[in-house]
Order: sequence, then C-alpha cells, then structure tokens
Amino acid sequence: MSEPRILVVGSTMVDLIAYAKRLPEAGETIVGDRFQIGLGGKGANQAVMAARFGVPVAMVNAVGDDAYGATHMKNFADEGIDTSWMRTVKGSSGVAPIWVDASGMNRIITILGANDATDPAVAVQAVNEFQPTIVVAQLETPQATTVAAFRAAREKGITTLLNPAPARPIVPELLSLTDWLTPNESEFAALFGGEATGPGADARIRAAADANKVNLIVTLGVEGAALALPGEPVRHVAAPKVPVVDTTGAGDSFVGAFSVGLVRGLEPMRAAELACACASASVQKHGTQSSYLSREEAQALLCGAVAEGRWPARLRQGAAKGTDLLRGEVVHVGLAGADQVAGPRVEL
Ligand code: RIB
Repeated sequence: MSEPRILVVGSTMVDLIAYAKRLPEAGETIVGDRFQIGLGGKGANQAVMAARFGVPVAMVNAVGDDAYGATHMKNFADEGIDTSWMRTVKGSSGVAPIWVDASGMNRIITILGANDATDPAVAVQAVNEFQPTIVVAQLETPQATTVAAFRAAREKGITTLLNPAPARPIVPELLSLTDWLTPNESEFAALFGGEATGPGADARIRAAADANKVNLIVTLGVEGAALALPGEPVRHVAAPKVPVVDTTGAGDSFVGAFSVGLVRGLEPMRAAELACACASASVQKHGTQSSYLSREEAQALLCGAVAEGRWPARLRQGAAKGTDLLRGEVVHVGLAGADQVAGPRVEL
C-alpha cells in the first residue's frame, strides 16, 4: 500500500486578531488588550495541523500577488506542505479580521480575495497527480472547485471530507460527493435546521446523517464531538477540560488531526479522540496555527496515548525505521519526546 497522504483543497487567510475583555456594541469604540497577526484560513490551518503529524500533505489554493501571498507560500514550505498546486493570482490574498473576547469566543469576517480564484482544473490535477488517501475541503473556496476535486476523488475511490465552514448553503452535488461531514454546532443548525445539543439531539444528528448518507461528526466545543456512523447509535467523544484562551482555529485543528487519524487507519472514535486532544491544546494558546501542537508535541501526544493504552500500539504495518508512531516501526513508551529515549520500547 502506498503511503497515506492528505490533499487539502482550501483557503488561506491572514488573521488580524484583536483581543478584548468584551466586544464593542454597534457604534461603540473600545480599548482592547492585545493584537496578533498570524497565518490562518480554514484550509491552511487544517493542512498545517495534519502536516505536524508527519503525514504528507499538499494544498490547492490561490494566493494574491501581495506580501501576504508570499508569506503563505513560505509558511507552507516551512511546514513541509507540498505547494505544487498552489497558484499566485493578481490581487489581494484573503484576510480575516477576528475579535476574541475574554471567554475565548471569536467573531470572524473573512474577505476571500484570491481564495475565490482556486481553480477546479488545478484541483483535479492535484487529485490525479498527488494521489491522496483523502481530500479535505471547507467553504472558503469556490464550491465548484471542491465539487470537481471530490468528483475526481470519488472516481478513484478516494475518501472525501467536507468541513462545512463557514456556514453557507451547500450545493446538493457537493453533499452527495462527501463521505465525512464535520459541522460545528452552529453549522449543523444552519444546514439541518435543529440543535446538535439538548434533548433529542442524538436523534437529530442520526437523522441528518441518514438523510444525507454521510458519516457525520458534529464538533461541540467543550462538549467534544458526536459521531453518527452508518448503522450505529450516535457516539460521543469527550473533550479534555482545559482553560480556554482563544477558540479560533480549534475546529480546524480537529479536522486536520481527524484526517490524520483516518488515513492512518485509526477507528473513527479513536481518530476523534486524537482530534479533540489537538483542539483542546489549541484553545489554550492565542491565534490559529500559532496555537497548534508542534511536531514534537504531536509526537509526544501519540507516544503518551499509546503508553496509557488509549490507542493501539500497532496502527499499521511499519515501513520505515524511526520513532514516529504513525510512520515508523518503534514507539518509545512513556516519554515526552521521541528523541529522549531511555525507557521501554514497544515494537509495532
Ligand atoms: O477557523 C478559523 C479560521 O477561520 C481563521 O484562521 C480565519 O482565517 C478563518 O478562515
């Protein structure tokens, strides 16, 4: 079997994040506490989170011929993300002014800019040439492009995952080409017209999954996530209880990590646990990509989970030598970092 790989057809944004104890009312000016500029966009965030687990990731998107576009391209190179199907077009890159209050909740406006020029033909080319195990997309790039990519993926038996964010009407063909759908609570309500929490929520989630013939995962913030898989009752994954600083991008870290779990053969509940752990880590720091687990932290998370028996030691037949649980043959148990090996070892 060839090595699992993830193709993200998705957005890039420069996040302009203002933090304040409370957010202003209409017509009001307030003094905030902190400002941060960082690299975001739901597609880029998901790609970066996945890449930090050492899985090969490629990105399809368009950036503007401005300084922001060049910064995104350098960021992808630094993160080890394949940019063969990234394009630079005339005009502005996407930007996202973001407000975050003292509880860590955000309000976001995205100005899509060059994201709107993400080309369907290039996306199909990427599916054919990169030969991914999964294609991951969101709703900040044209749906026609995602439809083209998902159609090409479906023809080849490649899994598709749509993170329907931000909430927008979805063209029916896109939904019909989607294997995994990952809305958050508000996106679930916008798509299916009911609450994803409270009395009767599991029945509503089950009904939405069945009606759309899709594997449905609803992310529920501090409540974790609910999974509706074919022929099973809805199952819940709890999120670790952590102090929240900034929730921005937490959903994207969930999707990136969940995709890693899926392509590496984790059972979906275990993949969702991995994803919840990553999202919980993200909310404890400011920013989006800047709040994600580093490569070393992602590795430590995996080693710790295996040591505690929460995930199977053998995720797949190891092919390469090394200490990376998802890629290699040997895992070092009970240690924070794969390089600081002194204790027992488990052969995968
Ligand atoms: O999901 C968070 C992301 O949404 C931010 O990075 C922002 O760019 C918007 O795309």
